[in-house]
Amino acid sequence: MAVTEPLNVLETSPPRFTAEEVAAIAGDLFDLHGEVRDLGSERDQTFLVGERVLKISNTGEDPAVLDLEAKALAHIARVDPELPIARQLDSGTRGGHLVRLFERMPGRSGARDLGDDAVSAFAQTNARLTLALRGFFHPAAGRDLLWNPGQAARLRPLVASIPEVGRRAIVERVLDRYEERVLPRWDYLPAQVVHGDFTLDNVLVDDRGRVSGITDFGDLGFATRAGDLAIDLCSILRVGGEKPFCTARIAIDGYQSRIPLEDGELDILGDLVLARLAALVAISAWRVERYPENAEYIQSWDVESWTLLEQFDARGLDEVARELGAPQPPVPTEELHRRRSAALGSALTGLTYRNPVHVVRGEGVWLFDADGRRYLDAYNNVPVVGHCHPRVTEAVVRQTRLLNTHSRYLYEPLIELAERLIATMPPETGLDAVMLVNSGSEANDLAWRLATTATGHSGVIVTEFAYHGVTTAIADLSPEEWPQGFRPEHVETITPFGVGMAEAVEQLNARGHGLAATYLDCGFTSDGIWTPAAEDVQAIACATREAGGLLVADEVQAGHGRSGEHLWSFAECGIAPDVVTLGKPMGNGYPVAAVIARQELFDRLKAETEVFSTFGGNPVAARAALAVLDVIDDERLVENAKRVGEELTQALRALEIGEVRGRGLLVGVELESAQRAEDVVNRMRDKGVLINRTGPRENVLKIRPPLVFASEHVVVLAAALEAATS
Ligand SMILES: Cc1ncc(COP(=O)(O)O)c(C=O)c1O
Repeated sequence: MAVTEPLNVLETSPPRFTAEEVAAIAGDLFDLHGEVRDLGSERDQTFLVGERVLKISNTGEDPAVLDLEAKALAHIARVDPELPIARQLDSGTRGGHLVRLFERMPGRSGARDLGDDAVSAFAQTNARLTLALRGFFHPAAGRDLLWNPGQAARLRPLVASIPEVGRRAIVERVLDRYEERVLPRWDYLPAQVVHGDFTLDNVLVDDRGRVSGITDFGDLGFATRAGDLAIDLCSILRVGGEKPFCTARIAIDGYQSRIPLEDGELDILGDLVLARLAALVAISAWRVERYPENAEYIQSWDVESWTLLEQFDARGLDEVARELGAPQPPVPTEELHRRRSAALGSALTGLTYRNPVHVVRGEGVWLFDADGRRYLDAYNNVPVVGHCHPRVTEAVVRQTRLLNTHSRYLYEPLIELAERLIATMPPETGLDAVMLVNSGSEANDLAWRLATTATGHSGVIVTEFAYHGVTTAIADLSPEEWPQGFRPEHVETITPFGVGMAEAVEQLNARGHGLAATYLDCGFTSDGIWTPAAEDVQAIACATREAGGLLVADEVQAGHGRSGEHLWSFAECGIAPDVVTLGKPMGNGYPVAAVIARQELFDRLKAETEVFSTFGGNPVAARAALAVLDVIDDERLVENAKRVGEELTQALRALEIGEVRGRGLLVGVELESAQRAEDVVNRMRDKGVLINRTGPRENVLKIRPPLVFASEHVVVLAAALEAATS
């Protein structure tokens, strides 16, 4: 069989010293005397001599590899001195064999009775060892050990040594799959020098099952981290009893608490576990043919390995990969749609588009569906700095790993965020305090409590078709959602231009409510996207104050730079609100919202009641919100919104399809009818551009992309709209 050079260590006979000879060697070389016990080894010999461990190396072992081992051990001891590795005490040679003397580590070997905590700790130790080796390099590390899951393709010739046809077929199936799924991805995986054989047989454990010694570094080499973990998992799967995958996942969690795995690694972890099991049985069968006298040791793991392989094969190899982290393939869109209707409460608003978009991924201004088609997202304002912006996702992930709790403890991100938000408010507003909540609705709800307690009034003015949220109190303030004929008696409406303001105040007074607040979304988004003159909005503010009410600027839609001049759209109208509410874009998708007001308003509420919102301003939410503010600054997205917004407006006007309104990257195009707008929105979707519609007549195209929208995207959008309207 043409099994070539890198196998030479496996092909060379292991040393075969007897206990008496070992006693003599120990005495001669190290003046060491004591009882000799064979600890077993695959290609070397390892003995316990008194209180020391003596290793006699295979003559086929490359001296450079032994140097690799010695240097790696020294490196680990320096980088992570707490790792329990056996120190080498001395060395010598006998009959061409290197003989090394190690200290004996405490604990028992070959443990099979680990509880979940110990399983997790075992994998954590593996990860720590990997971390300790991360910066280590040695020229001999590039050796190709057949045990390494990266070498599985070379197992083919060995399969013939497996006597049973059915078992041979299982191994062939595993190798087919390996070639199909693993090999094409292999060169993209994180790789470094790794232990290469971190198994329960190569560690000692203490009474609690925690690793007290890592005993064998004979398989050190440059390999993928995932392959190294797969070896660890194969060992753990053996102790998993009835539920091997649960135990393996606990080990993966332990490992990931130290080294988070990349998607590409999780994708093939199960395949690597299968490949390792295949390597164990194929190499064993092949070696037993050669060294029948060492069969007992060589075959020690066969029964467990075959049991797992047969069990996994019966389960289906795809399923094994998924149990260990590979993603589920997307559910067929129609089936998902059906299940959505069955599983979700029917009061949830319907899906957008006649042909709903089944999204699986987002990046920047693009969304990708389950078939891999990409859509230009010209509609979503939540991903304000672009879908899945790396600064935000990393901020969230890092803080999630570090700490997430509620605001009854002290932690920096919340305070940083509060101070940062206050600093963005124009000084003349006097807005100096923040409360963090979870949604725009909750922010507006809290603003309502501030307004009613501060003023003692109970009436409110909103624009004709405003939307401010979903709570019971705020649904009353959202005419867009009012059922036919519904009009709460404490609510009056005005146009976005302030028409009807005086009458509204009068009506509220007449009904004994008095004005507690006027809520304004300065983008007037649900009203159909309007940009009234600043004086009109100022007049609304003035009349509100005169009536004894507070002005609430709802920046949930138009805030965070969308309007293109300022971070907050109210600033464009030159008004100084009493309360500002933030939401949607604030965490780029992570739920976080805020109420900013003068401390005296919060004091008034406190006099009646305290407020606490469990998730409000948790460390992760705060980190997400801070990252969003940073990106808006760094990428100059407010300026971008202005510049690209102007290009967008011009391009849309040039189409001459209807009145174009808006500011920055909040733009509306009024078409002749709702039907026409609906058709256009759906045709745009089919052309790969996502927009929607708004306004009391639902005839205004609503274009409200992430603020990273660029000139090139304007061109794509305008071309699609031209085609969709012609
Ligand atoms: C202006 C405005 N305010 C408040 C809200 C409510 O925000 P949320 O859905 O996060 O509760 C919305 C939601 O669309 C909104 O557009």
